[in-house]
Amino acid sequence: MAPTPATELPSLDRESPLLGHDDATIIFVLGGPGAGKGTQCARMVEEYGFKHLSAGDLLREEQDREGSQYGDMIKQYIKDGEIVPMEVTIKLIENKIVDVIKTDKGAKFLIDGFPRKMDQALKFEEVVCPSVFTLFFDCPEDTMQERLLNRGKTSGRADDNAESIKKRFKTFVETSMPVVDYFEKQGKVVKISAVPPPEEVYEEVKRQLVERGVVQDKFEWVEQGEYKQAATG
Ligand code: C5P
Ligand code: MG
Repeated sequence: MAPTPATELPSLDRESPLLGHDDATIIFVLGGPGAGKGTQCARMVEEYGFKHLSAGDLLREEQDREGSQYGDMIKQYIKDGEIVPMEVTIKLIENKIVDVIKTDKGAKFLIDGFPRKMDQALKFEEVVCPSVFTLFFDCPEDTMQERLLNRGKTSGRADDNAESIKKRFKTFVETSMPVVDYFEKQGKVVKISAVPPPEEVYEEVKRQLVERGVVQDKFEWVEQGEYKQAATG
């Protein structure tokens, strides 16, 4: 068979979603670059066993994978703070989800940094799985900029520099915020201020997850008058 041309993107032709709410609970996690999405996701993973899929991490992993036909393309998009063609990102996420639910049907997923563009949002829900809601971390640009420049000292990321950051902010406002607005209109956005210290932000995250019945409060009052650890997740 002839090798696949470098420009060929994965096909997402499908009439209906591959998965439903019984297969996977999908929570999108959005927020500007440096809002703290990864930090908050890590805490949710630790406390409640969510599966964390960061679109940016998956793209960087694919970029570095030997033999990847998308490596060069991904590299360029990331450096320019632009959104990689959705077929690649959706396929990477779908592959991970399918893999996880083989042994953990009904798993709860945090899809971090996705969808960042309307076409990704529509296509993912159309052919992979509908989301339950979107956690949106709201943060002013100057705070995010400060965090990113700080992170850039040690992250080794090609896009944590002033020039790329500027482009990423622009993309966020012009391309990603419409996604948040779209889900907001459906009443499917949980907006949380990402300005306070991480512990405080996390308290609010937990409150919202419990309120929406995605996780149980870790401690429930029992008759004996003591706290006991309840089943989580
Ligand atoms: O989320 P993170 O900041 O790690 O994303 C880094 C870059 O990866 C983005 O600036 C963008 O170029 C790319 N990306 C994308 N589509 C997504 C998520 C990330 O193209 N859904
Ligand atoms: Mg991140």
